Amino acid sequence: MKNEINGKKIPRHVGIIMDGNGRWARRRGLARTSGHTEGLKTARRIVEAASARGIAYLTLFVFSTENWKRATHEVDFIMSLVKQHLTRELDFYRKNHIRIRHTGDTDGLAPDILAEIDQAKSDTRDFDGMQVILALNYGGRNAVVRAVRRFLRQGGVAEMLDEDAITQSMDNPDVPDPDLIIRTAGEFRTSNFLLWEAAYAEYFITDKFWPDFSTEDFDAALAAYAARERRFGTVAQ
Ligand code: FPP
Repeated sequence: MKNEINGKKIPRHVGIIMDGNGRWARRRGLARTSGHTEGLKTARRIVEAASARGIAYLTLFVFSTENWKRATHEVDFIMSLVKQHLTRELDFYRKNHIRIRHTGDTDGLAPDILAEIDQAKSDTRDFDGMQVILALNYGGRNAVVRAVRRFLRQGGVAEMLDEDAITQSMDNPDVPDPDLIIRTAGEFRTSNFLLWEAAYAEYFITDKFWPDFSTEDFDAALAAYAARERRFGTVAQ
């Protein structure tokens, strides 16, 4: 689908792997948690920029199913940041008509976080601006397994199982596949992010640590995307 603003091709759905908070902090002799605090500020900045640029969907990889292996105090800190963000920034989301959604395994998330997510989802459900999808307790393989389970629970059988059936059984089936995935901190890995949905996504990788990622960097990613030719498996015209 053609999605353009002022003649420039813009991605409808952007996913971001926000990496490098810990390294950003370590470089400054600070605790890893300071990196997450700064990372949250970056997330807010980029949400605002993405909304202003007409992006329709933004998925942020906040916490993976593997992140539980981190020190308890770091996990608790990230969860408290998320909670704080959802309670304190509601006015910001309201002002910008941004809808908040969640993807990830709700099993394993603490009841207080789940309640906060549910509240934010319902408070913003009628907003028709950008949709921010928070990937929290998220793993790409886990998402596919949960989709297949959902399919089976709804009476699906082997003969009915195809790509579309899996897509329709994912957490947010109405959300289109990501067009662009941005990854900070220079790693060339998918890290189990949107494995199913990113089949034809373009990747943009920058060395910048997430706390240093600026709106100019975001614009550079959008410009790189605009310059790419997406072929979806066909040949160049
Ligand atoms: C990666 O840095 C970042 C995370 C594990 C998630 C933390 C994300 C935030 C605090 C932003 C939350 C955003 C919203 C909108 C709620 P890392 O710790 O893996 O860095 P490292 O690889 O350098 O150690």
